[in-house]
Amino acid sequence: MTALEKINAPPTRLGGTALYDWDYLVQEDRAHRLIYTDPAIFEAEMTNIFGGTWTYLAHESEIPNDNDFITRRLGLRPLIIVRDANGKIRALYNRCTHRGTTLCRWDKGNSKSFQCPYHGWNFLNTGKLRGVPWPEGYAEDMRDPKYNIAQVPRVESYRGFIFATLNMDALPLIEHLGSIAKIIDEWLDRNPGGKVVVCEANRFRYKGNWKLAYDNSCDGYHVAYSHRSLLETENRFAGENAKGMAYYRNSPDTQPMYMRYTGRGNHFKDKRPNLEKRPGGLWALESAHPGMEHYEAEFIRRYGDRAFALLDLAGSEPVNINVFPNFSLLGNHIQVFEPVGVEETNAIWYGTMIVDDGSIPSDAVTDINALRMRTQEGFPNFGEVDDIANFEQIQRGLMAPEDEWVYMNRGFGIPDRVKTHDDGSITAPATDEAFMREHFKEWKRLMKARPNLAIQREP
Ligand code: FES
Ligand SMILES: [Fe+2]
Repeated sequence: MTALEKINAPPTRLGGTALYDWDYLVQEDRAHRLIYTDPAIFEAEMTNIFGGTWTYLAHESEIPNDNDFITRRLGLRPLIIVRDANGKIRALYNRCTHRGTTLCRWDKGNSKSFQCPYHGWNFLNTGKLRGVPWPEGYAEDMRDPKYNIAQVPRVESYRGFIFATLNMDALPLIEHLGSIAKIIDEWLDRNPGGKVVVCEANRFRYKGNWKLAYDNSCDGYHVAYSHRSLLETENRFAGENAKGMAYYRNSPDTQPMYMRYTGRGNHFKDKRPNLEKRPGGLWALESAHPGMEHYEAEFIRRYGDRAFALLDLAGSEPVNINVFPNFSLLGNHIQVFEPVGVEETNAIWYGTMIVDDGSIPSDAVTDINALRMRTQEGFPNFGEVDDIANFEQIQRGLMAPEDEWVYMNRGFGIPDRVKTHDDGSITAPATDEAFMREHFKEWKRLMKARPNLAIQREP
């Protein structure tokens, strides 16, 4: 009979601002279940992480014109992301300064002002209070800036991706992104004009902690098991021509793909080295979807030698780029994780289209975008459901209080397996959990910090 395990007293909350001993809860090779299940930790994350570091909000193409807006969240804070009349992008709190109701109940639109549905206070889209019904009922000067809508003080874009933080001491976004910016550049620059435009999204909600999704974002260990039915479907008619994620099937760690951690919780998994470097190399890998043969024949007829380079634009870029805590680029999708509660998360997959910048024929742009929509129907519907099933079942498993730890030690302690480069970035084989060990160091750094958070209002 194997030795019985002693049951520890559960960790207790410390006084003051130090909620827990974070070094105990997150160790080099394992993390305590409480970080996924404790409402107090979740609450602290909503300020220290979602607020304390740069969080992805939206893409500029979702608000292309002046006065366009969309509603989003920063952690649990409801926001209106608006491009004001002067073209400035702002993240306004979707919260009336009178009694606190949300001001805007629409997902998106175009408006110069927002009128509160409760008592009719009216605000410009700069956040300034424009007027209140029957002002003679107030002794106070209603032009006091305290009545202007709160806004996130730091909103910055990187090549169309809008991030925000409340932390006045956070590095400028570009420095925060560091070397992952170059990988984002590569993801964009293969498209005409180095651009994409966001189209609609597949929206999922799962009963599990938000970190379960981020922990999976660079995980190459689960693919052959969790996505087995998808792999089999993708390859049923492929014969020797392995499709989709087939390079995970046999010995993924000996493939040229790898994972790299670039700092600040950010990492990417690069499957591009698995590809044949030729026009059509990416297209050849794309799993079967409706209309493919027809489009391929039509492209060859219309564009001759250029056909396969164009068809590659409809292929799913084989890289997963993850910016902590809530943003991923994978295939042609932008995936965003939105915490809803300690055990509930939205996982949203935005599709992207290419734009007509004159560098490729216009009719090819339309057809490539039609094909990209087929990829939007692929992985989000047939792969994400596998992942979400795992997240929900992990959350269930972690309800057992006595079995405390989750392990992230794959690749840990094996000489020469995980390599640290001169710039501090870290490379490991595709199935290693080095990415998770590293992003948890960033999580811990943020949870230990007392971030210098602020909001601002128009003067
Ligand atoms: S709550 Fe907005 S006007 Fe009263
Ligand atoms: Fe997965």
